[in-house]
Amino acid sequence: MKTYRYPQTLLASASAALVAGTLALAPGLVLAQANTVKIGVILPMTGPSASTGRQIDAAIKLWVAQNGNKAGGKTVEVIIKDDAGVADTTRRLAQELVVNDKVVALAGFGLTPLALASAPIATQSKTPMVVMAAATSAITEASPYILRTSFTLPQAAVSIADWAAKNKIKRVVTLVADYGPGNDAEKYFYERFRLNGGQVLDKLRTPLRGADFAPVLQKVRDAAPDALFVFLPSGQGAAFMKQYAERGLDKAGIKLIATGDVTDDDQLGDMGDVALGVVNAHHYSAAHDSPANKKFVDAFQAANKFRPNFMAVGGYDGMRLLYTGLNTSKGAGGDALLAAMKGQLFESPRGPVLIDAQTRDIVQDIYIRKVERVNGQLYNIEFDTLKQVKDPGKLK
Ligand code: DHB
Repeated sequence: MKTYRYPQTLLASASAALVAGTLALAPGLVLAQANTVKIGVILPMTGPSASTGRQIDAAIKLWVAQNGNKAGGKTVEVIIKDDAGVADTTRRLAQELVVNDKVVALAGFGLTPLALASAPIATQSKTPMVVMAAATSAITEASPYILRTSFTLPQAAVSIADWAAKNKIKRVVTLVADYGPGNDAEKYFYERFRLNGGQVLDKLRTPLRGADFAPVLQKVRDAAPDALFVFLPSGQGAAFMKQYAERGLDKAGIKLIATGDVTDDDQLGDMGDVALGVVNAHHYSAAHDSPANKKFVDAFQAANKFRPNFMAVGGYDGMRLLYTGLNTSKGAGGDALLAAMKGQLFESPRGPVLIDAQTRDIVQDIYIRKVERVNGQLYNIEFDTLKQVKDPGKLK
């Protein structure tokens, strides 16, 4: 109610009119409410994961600029809130968006703990929740109302483990951020690489908020593996690469392999030569060669002074999922919107994707890429494609 700031008397007469069944007499307020659906987006716009917020915010604005603000016969209002990457704040904002703003859907969720903190609110209020960024496998199991348009770490980790084993890499050290997606990356890389006959010499972890990689990099140098496998969340790749080069690891004959979070398009342009040749697995590259991606990247770059990364694509596709869902549900939320979003199949800038109706998770192509310089700028250049990869975390 406070969103509209109508005088109490007007609100009172509006509800009296509704009760009396004299809807025709109700003021414009009631009609305006009935014709508007709100989507509540919670993002880390400030704090250590601000690049995730900035990318997804820009992608949502691009989607609305290209597709208008109508879906399912209603006017769509997108409300964007900043949680600064703090889970208690995400939960409070989710609660407020559901209770006060009466959103038909929640979306965003820049980190795994933020998505998990909000899952019970989605369940209790039967509000569909579109996870556009967070990537721990188990998130979609935290609520039957969660759908995901980002990716899962097992999708990327298993794919690079297969590539490594086939490319003369026998001894690996793993290095991951010490929280949900890092645990997934470590576990799925380890299991798949060993299944392929590889050896994991050490499993190293760094604190989620830590930007000092010196202690672990020394251990890597001492272990002298054929390759170091790395997962760090979006936003940490540039700092890691800098320290990797400073310690001379790029010259020590230890190959760097990674999930694409480390060679993130948001930062890759500024990483310098140390990133050249890094082989990694992921679902999106700004250099992905398709008409749909060219259109997306050109429009995104025309509207912003930066390249879209995989977070932007998760946000853009999340909006598509919501708009298509609202068109089918004729603007209704709750179970109708959830059902309308399950099983959607579409061409994303990343390639063909499916929102699996059973798991509500994304099934997508995973690309093996190498960092190369193209027209003076660093890009992840895809050279192999694993078709329609389901989350390996759901196959157990
Ligand atoms: C998560 C966050 C990231 O920035 C990323 O690149 C992968 C996963 C997460 O918290 O789930």
